[in-house]
Amino acid sequence: MILLQTKTLFSCLITLALVACDRMPGKPTKETPVVIGSPSWTQSTFNTNCRGCHSQGAEGAAIPLIDAGYWKVASDAQVIQVIQQGQGVLMPSYLDSNGGPMSAEEIAALVKGMRSLWGAGSSGGQGGISGTVVAGNASAGAQVFAAACASCHATRGSSGSVTDPMYLKLISNQGLWSAIVYGRSSLGSPAWNEPMPNRPSGLTPTEVADVVSWIAQSRPTSPADEKLTYQPKNKNASDAK
Ligand code: HEC
Ligand code: HEC
Repeated sequence: MILLQTKTLFSCLITLALVACDRMPGKPTKETPVVIGSPSWTQSTFNTNCRGCHSQGAEGAAIPLIDAGYWKVASDAQVIQVIQQGQGVLMPSYLDSNGGPMSAEEIAALVKGMRSLWGAGSSGGQGGISGTVVAGNASAGAQVFAAACASCHATRGSSGSVTDPMYLKLISNQGLWSAIVYGRSSLGSPAWNEPMPNRPSGLTPTEVADVVSWIAQSRPTSPADEKLTYQPKNKNASDAK
């Protein structure tokens, strides 16, 4: 009698557990297959892999990709290349053959999907300036910097020095180019063709190239260069041990 009751109770519990498992919150339902390249796939792939660094507004560490201005200038070929191979020190490579999480097909689908979600119908290569960095004349760039940028970006400037050698170790010339070309309106950073001090209608593409070449000259090229400019504040304290 007791045995029977226990058995019944046991099978009830198993049935309950199975039913409950089937209704677990967040369990993917069979009715929504994932279509690579669809808007929902694009958005969730971006949220999972990219949003932490490339979000909109002030919080992103890197330039926002949810931005029609970006897709107007940047070409698909350029963006695919960056996601496949990475850029500089901070942007990882996503291609599976480099140890990344995505196939070449998925990367191409992501770029196509991002352009259709956020590109406002543009095909790239527009906007009057190249999306990829162009070499310029550094001494002409020194004058551009002094006139248009120094009031915000001189050493200890209110918007942060962009000639700090340690900063330049982390950001590529392409990264500098993009920061200047697109700006960040949410942070008060002007785009290349917006008004700046002594440049009421912004810069010319040549001036953008020149100022990037000049800033890049402050990037350390050898450990000795770094020693000259970087002095840890607590150096003496640890030496005293
Ligand atoms: C009105 C002030 C202002 C002017 C003028 C200005 N910037 Fe900026 N810039 C900013 C602000 C604010 C940011 C965002 C800083 C941050 O990341 O918090 C920024 C960001 C940048 C960055 C990216 C820094 C980063 O965080 O990676 C670069 C590079 C840069 N500016 C270069 C320039 C250059 C070169 C010029 C001149 C052609 C210029 N800026 C003119 C305010 C200015
Ligand atoms: C860990 C932070 C991080 C993650 C995650 C990340 N990025 Fe980046 N990305 C960066 C940084 C920083 C740069 C600029 C690097 C430089 O130029 O020095 C960059 C550059 C780029 C650029 C080039 C922008 C330009 O035109 O200069 C593209 C495109 C890009 N990332 C797309 C993506 C996509 C798509 C993903 C997700 C699959 C992603 N990133 C994930 C940090 C990140």
